[in-house]
Amino acid sequence: MPQPKAAIFDAYGTLLDVHAAVGRHAARLGQQAGAVSALWRAKQIEWSWILSATGAYEPFWALTEKALDHALAVHGVADATLRADLLAAYRTLDAYPEAAPMLAALRVRGIPTAILSNGSPEMLEASVAAGGLGPLLDDVLSVQPLRCFKPDPRVYALATARFGCQPHEVVFVSSNPWDAYGAQRFGFRVFWVNRAGGPAEYWLDQTAVILADLAALPERLA
Ligand code: LAC
Repeated sequence: MPQPKAAIFDAYGTLLDVHAAVGRHAARLGQQAGAVSALWRAKQIEWSWILSATGAYEPFWALTEKALDHALAVHGVADATLRADLLAAYRTLDAYPEAAPMLAALRVRGIPTAILSNGSPEMLEASVAAGGLGPLLDDVLSVQPLRCFKPDPRVYALATARFGCQPHEVVFVSSNPWDAYGAQRFGFRVFWVNRAGGPAEYWLDQTAVILADLAALPERLA
């Protein structure tokens, strides 16, 4: 496998643990903590798809706030302080522990790296800084200037434009099957990070390299 011209990473769920926000305040949500976190994420993503498919746009941070409100309402939680604390935690999500060492290993190998995310620039900036990932990335690309969301192919084209290369010269890494599929359709070489060990979706068992986490990525690019 020739060395890629760039390694591009999804942010939420791939480098950043989207369940870390609820995790920090799980005791205050009790037994429904996991369900709140899952519904928060599901609605955030669903709404991004529906807006994008209908030609509408709202910044991902606004969708994140509204999706949390929905999840709290479904679970009967009316606690304004907890809502504020969860949103503050989401702005500074934990990076997965293997993310920084993996990015450092790619840097040693001379492979440029970037995030390509549906996230709004300010929320990406805050989480990248909190996770100590900033010095290890060449760029952080947000969909915001395009006003549409992944998996719209115009988003993946941001990466080829930034690094001046063809889709097949890019390695794209995502834990989100729908994102991995969109990237594969665009022509990227795709690594699907199947953290949950779930069944393959979108034919990724045939079209992507499947990793359990990010740690093995550098050796798989050798
Ligand atoms: C991202 C989310 C959607 O684009 O995972 O970072």
